[in-house]
Amino acid sequence: MPGAKNSVLKLMAATLLAPGTSTLTNVPDIEDVTIMSELLRRLGCVVAHAGSSITIEVPERPDHRADYDLVRKMRASICVLGPLIARCGAADVAVPGGDNIGSRGLDMHVEGLRKMGVHVDNEHGYLLAECEALTGASVFLDFPSVGATETILMAAVTARGQSVIENAAREPEIIDICSMLVSMGADISGIGSSSLVINGVSDLKPTKHRVVSDRIVAGTWAVAAVMTQGDITIHGVPHEHLALPLEKLELTGARIEREGASIRIQMQGRPQCVDVVTLPYPGFPTDLQPQFIALNAMGLGAALVTENLFEARFRFVQELARLGADVRTDGHHALIRGRESLSGAPVEATDIRAGAGLVLAGLVANGSTTVYGVTHIDRGYAGFVETLQGLGAQIQRVDD
Ligand code: UD1
Repeated sequence: MPGAKNSVLKLMAATLLAPGTSTLTNVPDIEDVTIMSELLRRLGCVVAHAGSSITIEVPERPDHRADYDLVRKMRASICVLGPLIARCGAADVAVPGGDNIGSRGLDMHVEGLRKMGVHVDNEHGYLLAECEALTGASVFLDFPSVGATETILMAAVTARGQSVIENAAREPEIIDICSMLVSMGADISGIGSSSLVINGVSDLKPTKHRVVSDRIVAGTWAVAAVMTQGDITIHGVPHEHLALPLEKLELTGARIEREGASIRIQMQGRPQCVDVVTLPYPGFPTDLQPQFIALNAMGLGAALVTENLFEARFRFVQELARLGADVRTDGHHALIRGRESLSGAPVEATDIRAGAGLVLAGLVANGSTTVYGVTHIDRGYAGFVETLQGLGAQIQRVDD
C-alpha cells in the first residue's frame, strides 16, 4: 500500500525544520506530492524524486512565503506555516482553497500559534505570521483538528520550553509525523493520545522516514470489493487503522480476514446498508464517507449517514442521484434507500473522495458511467484506474 497522502505532505513540510538532506520512502505518486515538491522548491529546497523515494535538501535560510498560485491548488500547503515560523521566525502563507468540501477554518491553528508568541495578521488573502521567539504554551483545541495539531506540533518542537496540546488529533498520520519528528531529535510524549507534551529542543537534524500506509486508499479498495461482490487481499496496511470501517463492512455481510498487515475482503450477494457517523479518529473517517454512501446506494435496506466534519461533503450526493441513487440530505444527515440497480450516466467529481465514490458507483451501475473532473482523484490516488483494471474492473481513462 502506498504512503498516505494525508501524511506525506506534512512530512515533506516537516523536513523544513532541519537544514540538510532528509529522505522519505513509500511516497505515493500523486499530484499533491508534485504540488508540495514545487512549494518546497520555491522555499529554496532541492527536491529529487527517485521511484517511491524523495530527498529534500533544506537550505540554512529557507524563504518564508507560500504563494497563492500553489496554495489554491492544495489546501494542505498550510502545513508549511508551523515549520516556517519555527525556522524563519516568519511565514507569509496564502489562505488556502483546495478541496471543494466546505469552509475549513484556520482559527485553531492561529490561536495556538498566538499562544506561542506569534503575531498573526490576515491581509490581502495571506496569513502573515511573525514572532521574535517561539515559546512553549498549553493549547486546548476546541476540536481534535488534524491540521491544527500538526501546525502547533511543528512550531512547538523547537520552541523554548514545554508545550502541551490537549484534545489533539490521534490519526495514524499524526503518529507518523510525531515518529518522524522524534527521529529528527524532537522530544514528544503522549504520542497516539489526545494529550501531546512537547519539550522544545534547540535544533533538529535531517532524517530518513518511511511514510505510513494510506488507510483511506485501502478502505476505498475494500468498499469496491464489497460493492462488486469480489474477493481481494490488501497488503501492507495495519488493519487497526481501519478498525471501524472494516467492522461496518462486516455488517454489510462481507467476510473480513485480518492477518498481520494484510486484509482479505470477500463478499457474496448484495450488501446490507450500514449507518455511518463520521468523527475524528478512531471514529469513522470522513474520507471514506462518500464511498460508503455509494455502497449504501446499491445496498439492501436503508441507512443514515451523518457527516460531522465537512458540511459540504454531501454535495456529491447530487451527482450520485444522477446514477439513480435514492439519497435525501438534511443538514448533517443523508438518508439512503438502497436500489437494486444504479444506471450509468455522466457525473462530475467534486473532490478526491467524492470522485472515488462516484467511480465505485459507476463500477456497479448498468451501462457506462463517465466521471468528469478526475484530476481530483489524481490528487490522492496513485494509479487509480490501473489498480481497478488489475482487479478486473472495466474502466479506462479518456482525455476530456
Ligand atoms: C485533514 C485531511 C482530510 C481529512 C480531515 C479529517 C489532510 C491533507 N487532509 O484535513 O483529508 O478529511 O483531516 O480527518 O490531511 N476546523 C476549524 N478550525 C481550524 C481547523 C479545523 O474550524 O482551525 C474545522 C474544519 O473547518 C473542518 C474540521 O475542523 O470542518 C476538520 O478539520 P481538520 O481536522 O483540521 O482537517 P484537515 O487537517 O483540514
